[in-house]
Amino acid sequence: MRQVVIPRYGAPDVLETRQAPDPFPGDDEIRIRVRAAGINFADILARLGLYPDAPKPPMVVGYEVAGRVDAVGRNVVSFAEGDRVLALTRFGGYADTVVVPIAQAFHFPDDLSDSEAAAVPVNYLTASIALYKMAALAPGETVLVHNAGGGVGIAATQLARLRRATVIGTASAFKHDALRSFGVDHAIDYRHANVAEEVRKLTRGRGVDVILDPIGGRSFTDSYRMLAPLGRLVIFGLSAAATGEKRNVWRALQAWLTTPRFNPLSLINRNRGVFGLNVGHLWEERRQLAATMEMLISELRAGRLTPVVARTFPLDRAADAHRFIQSRGNIGKVVLTT
Ligand SMILES: NC(=O)c1ccc[n+]([C@@H]2O[C@H](COP(=O)([O-])OP(=O)(O)OC[C@H]3O[C@@H](n4cnc5c(N)ncnc54)[C@H](OP(=O)(O)O)[C@@H]3O)[C@@H](O)[C@H]2O)c1
Repeated sequence: MRQVVIPRYGAPDVLETRQAPDPFPGDDEIRIRVRAAGINFADILARLGLYPDAPKPPMVVGYEVAGRVDAVGRNVVSFAEGDRVLALTRFGGYADTVVVPIAQAFHFPDDLSDSEAAAVPVNYLTASIALYKMAALAPGETVLVHNAGGGVGIAATQLARLRRATVIGTASAFKHDALRSFGVDHAIDYRHANVAEEVRKLTRGRGVDVILDPIGGRSFTDSYRMLAPLGRLVIFGLSAAATGEKRNVWRALQAWLTTPRFNPLSLINRNRGVFGLNVGHLWEERRQLAATMEMLISELRAGRLTPVVARTFPLDRAADAHRFIQSRGNIGKVVLTT
């Protein structure tokens, strides 16, 4: 099998394609010949050495794949050789072959391509847990989605629209037309405009009901201040720590040091909530994850959710894929193909 390895922390050119022996499935596992592997921002943080969850180098990152089953373990009855599946991988996804426990694999609708299927698991799980489970988004509420042009951002926009919420999205200006076509009602160029000021105008001073913030640092403070009474903020990332293609521990530390410690008395007196989310720490919550995935797959089958693939890159050009994301060029998910 082929894998893309991060042998040491650094710029995208550290990524190396290597050969490894084919893995064999255990009793409750399946082997998948991968056609498409999703890239997540966490992979970039891992390459930079800024992602504490990742294994130490040399490591293979990658949280999700889609492809065909080509071997099944002794106890497996729900999958057969040749089935098309998408799967969550806890690392190891940047490969043309993976083995996963069956609890992490799902059949997907025939009309989705492999790349579209690989764009589903992490982004849609994150967005749906944040919006539906944690923030309990209600029809008529207003949601502020930061990085609305990214993988999680587009998933969140689609899921918010399914709940008939109004969506305010932030992204680089060139993405705004696309954002509107995905369902964003108001787009803000957060790199040049004052987001708080724009939100105040759009909500006539009331603030927003729900905010999804994966940027971290000062952005969490700004988001907290933009909440309406009974508002909920879901914090789930620290992309502010990735300040360039090379590792810069000092600037990453600055992002961490400007991250607020929320004050319980302020939460009480302002009637606000702050949730933290790390889907990567929910792998053992099999029942909850499976229920959410089944809901998502049924919405995909009904055509009410549509994964957006920004670009695909061959597996051995993973470095270019990382550069593309770090240049903020992607509108949608970036996927590696084998
Ligand atoms: N906690 C969890 O369970 C979980 C799960 C999935 C994702 N996340 C987090 O959610 C965020 C989005 O993830 P994603 O995988 O969907 O990625 P993505 O949004 O596709 O990431 C790329 C986009 O992020 C924006 N961005 C913001 N800060 C950036 C920076 N410092 N460098 C480069 N681009 C930056 C850029 O768009 P614009 O500048 O145009 O907005 C860029 O195009 C990340 O912070 C990720 O870590 C967390």
